[in-house]
Amino acid sequence: MSNAYSLLFILFCFSVSNALVPPADTFRYVNEGDFGEFESEYAPTYRPLNPFTFPFQLCFYNTTPNAYYLGLRMGTRRDGSLMRWVWEANRGSPVRENATFSLGSDGNLILAESTGQIVWQTNTANKDVVGFAILSDGNMVLRDSKGNFVWQSFDSPTDTLLVGQTLRINGGPLKLVSRDSITNNVNGAYSFVIEPKRLALYYKNSMRYWSSTFPKLNRANVNLVNATLRVAESEYEENNFSELQCYITNVQDFEQPSLRLGTLRYNSSLSYLRLGIDGNLRFYTYRANVRGNAWALLFTLFDRGVRSSNGADDPVDECQLPNRCGKFGLCEESQCVGCPTPNGVFAWSKDCDVKLPSCNASSFTYYELKGVDHFTVKYTPGTGRTSLDNCKNKCTKDCKCLGYFYHTDIARCWTVNELKTLTRVGNSTNLAYIKTPIN
Ligand SMILES: *[C@@H]1O[C@H](CO)[C@@H](O)[C@H](O)[C@H]1NC(C)=O
Ligand SMILES: *[C@@H]1O[C@H](CO)[C@@H](O)[C@H](O)[C@H]1NC(C)=O
Ligand SMILES: *[C@@H]1O[C@H](CO)[C@@H](O)[C@H](O)[C@H]1NC(C)=O
Ligand SMILES: *[C@@H]1O[C@H](CO)[C@@H](O)[C@H](O)[C@H]1NC(C)=O
Ligand SMILES: *[C@@H]1O[C@H](CO)[C@@H](O)[C@H](O)[C@H]1NC(C)=O
Ligand SMILES: *[C@@H]1O[C@H](CO)[C@@H](O)[C@H](O)[C@H]1NC(C)=O
Repeated sequence: MSNAYSLLFILFCFSVSNALVPPADTFRYVNEGDFGEFESEYAPTYRPLNPFTFPFQLCFYNTTPNAYYLGLRMGTRRDGSLMRWVWEANRGSPVRENATFSLGSDGNLILAESTGQIVWQTNTANKDVVGFAILSDGNMVLRDSKGNFVWQSFDSPTDTLLVGQTLRINGGPLKLVSRDSITNNVNGAYSFVIEPKRLALYYKNSMRYWSSTFPKLNRANVNLVNATLRVAESEYEENNFSELQCYITNVQDFEQPSLRLGTLRYNSSLSYLRLGIDGNLRFYTYRANVRGNAWALLFTLFDRGVRSSNGADDPVDECQLPNRCGKFGLCEESQCVGCPTPNGVFAWSKDCDVKLPSCNASSFTYYELKGVDHFTVKYTPGTGRTSLDNCKNKCTKDCKCLGYFYHTDIARCWTVNELKTLTRVGNSTNLAYIKTPIN
């Protein structure tokens, strides 16, 4: 290239890369130094960083030594209450001591190891980013020179939705995914998903254990578009309520369906919906300046069968939770009541488990349980009408199948690859057959 051409080329590059982040708005934080001394969720050690907008603060935190996550924490030390993690950048990909979190002048937000290896980034270099901010609702944003959001943390939730945050069919985010355990910060077994016909909870991506019942979606041309966590204003200001407000297409009337999460007893849009480690959905609200008691749990989807008194949707029995009774167990009215075996139902304990059959059809048989359903039965259609024999054959031919469930009144069949929690329904039309090795 001649000099004149290279000059033109450089000018061209400048005109497409637009503005730079002003030096005063760039930053680089290093994961080093003293730990904070206050209590937060999962009992980690943590290092607070400068970005803070009441009551949200970015921190590095770890639950196992030298494995840090960049997380957004909600709550302040003044509350004297457990602070909660409501967003994180790098679940499943921890960084080490001396990792860096930086916004360079090109506008890319980067989490990197001290070696420079990038672990997480927003991919926003040369997109006219002029600065980073934590907004008062907990959304973290990179703004361009026109004030638009080039990136926002609300588009990449892990297990938590804050008020104002949306799940959507087109473009996502499509789902929340639970955390595996308190100490193990990787994706867990549960997901909360928006689909065209329902909001649904899944165990291991395919076993549905709950879904919304929105009758309006029964029509063929009607679909869910998005779901936003919001605080709805009621006519009487003291009765404002929170809900997961859905938007569906092709519905003329003004009322869109929603999951009602209950009346707010005080003035706070600082609240969140969490898909828990146990697969339950809970809604918490934050009260500033209530020392020692900053959090209130307003809604639990799977609860002890009590009818709601605060305007929330009624809870579902805890027996619907796949892991309520561990590896295998019979559940009734939220309690683990039995351990089914080929020789009868014994008292439940944590050790209650199935004996895994081999693949060879002549090496296993089935034992029957009456008045019992699997956690997938209530919210999935199964197959049918079909005969009990067909149902059995389907399970027998499938090595992974551990049992089948059959409703004689409607001749429907469900085969399952995981047993986990079975629910006693006290209905002799609901039958369960569990595979078991012959000796
Ligand atoms: C982190 O960096 C500091 C300063 O460069 C260095 O003294 C320290 O040893 C580093 N820590 C680790 C664990 O690498
Ligand atoms: C939800 O979908 C409706 C219909 O497409 C749209 O008007 C609305 O802006 C969407 N809400 C959010 C928060 O994306
Ligand atoms: C509710 O909270 C908002 C934001 O904190 C505040 O602006 C408003 O005045 C409060 N209203 C009442 C009735 O306390
Ligand atoms: C209800 O909402 C209105 C309007 O946003 C607000 O002024 C009022 O403080 C809220 N009341 C409560 C109890 O949250
Ligand atoms: C299946 O089990 C039967 C009886 O135990 C045995 O006779 C047969 O050889 C086995 N078949 C295979 C393919 O292993
Ligand atoms: C048993 O099943 C029948 C047919 O579906 C239903 O009408 C009845 O309500 C069920 N009884 C119980 C106790 O669930």
